[in-house]
Amino acid sequence: MARITHGIGCSHIPVLGYAHDHGKDGDDYFKPAFAGFDWTREWITAPDSRPDVVILVYNDHASAFDMKVIPTFAIGCGESFTPADEGFGPRPVPVVEGHPDLAWHIAQSLVLDEFDTTIINEMEVDHGLTVPLTMMFGDVEKWPVKVIPLAVNVVTYPPPSGNRCWALGEAISRAVSSFPQDLKVQIWGTGGMSHQLQGPRAGLINKEWDNRFLDGLTGEGQDLRHVPHIEYLRETGSEGIEMVMWLIMRGALGKSTRALHRHYHVPVSNTALGHIVLEPVDPTVPPSRTLEGGSPIAQKMIA
Ligand code: DHB
Ligand code: FE
Repeated sequence: MARITHGIGCSHIPVLGYAHDHGKDGDDYFKPAFAGFDWTREWITAPDSRPDVVILVYNDHASAFDMKVIPTFAIGCGESFTPADEGFGPRPVPVVEGHPDLAWHIAQSLVLDEFDTTIINEMEVDHGLTVPLTMMFGDVEKWPVKVIPLAVNVVTYPPPSGNRCWALGEAISRAVSSFPQDLKVQIWGTGGMSHQLQGPRAGLINKEWDNRFLDGLTGEGQDLRHVPHIEYLRETGSEGIEMVMWLIMRGALGKSTRALHRHYHVPVSNTALGHIVLEPVDPTVPPSRTLEGGSPIAQKMIA
């Protein structure tokens, strides 16, 4: 049986990818940002904690999707995903290998559980996905895990609510736990933390708010489900809304979590860098929405 062993939160600031690709991670400016990932890089490749598959919740920045198509949630079911050219040529990082069997299983389970996700078989992946992989695995010839990309629209209004994201995480946890193969699966929530890239408030960073958000991911509290979009915008800048993606990760970890590692550093570029490694305390999988209160037809389909 597959199971979600851990959740990871991680910013995706593109200049960190650039710094890594150009051997600048040891420069004074970047060193403290990278140093906060040393613990995780060691832990994640240790035999006990190394995942087989990562469900990588991220957002695309007009690389795979543009104003023609804006899926709220899209799951990558392909065999592989190539790094996108974001204007300076594709990053020199390995092609991302998918896990089509698990991805299709999750897609089916989500849809029958009344989360209608878009299915993507072919797409390129940008810094939103490749920078977190670099922060976790460093310089490798091949990523040591299979990756299921789960793209969330946080670029064009309206993004999904925090509550919807949390509930989607719960549905992903049900989907993974009903996959028959023995697999260790991690779920990553990426993007954030506070940042605004344009306009008069460019450079806005809110350390207190970000740290309260990190606090709220641990333990049993569910207050973060109810943070409205306007609060992200007001307190964390226009791009701070990327943090709703971390709630998909948190929702997938069940009732309670503890933090194994946490790192916060400002600024990198115009952005606050956050990182957390979470372990579920109570691995009970939440009941299905459809079995709980959905339509009789859906109940029959999922039973
Ligand atoms: C930056 C941050 C982002 O989240 C992004 O997508 C692009 C740029 C930045 O801080 O430069
Ligand atoms: Fe971004």
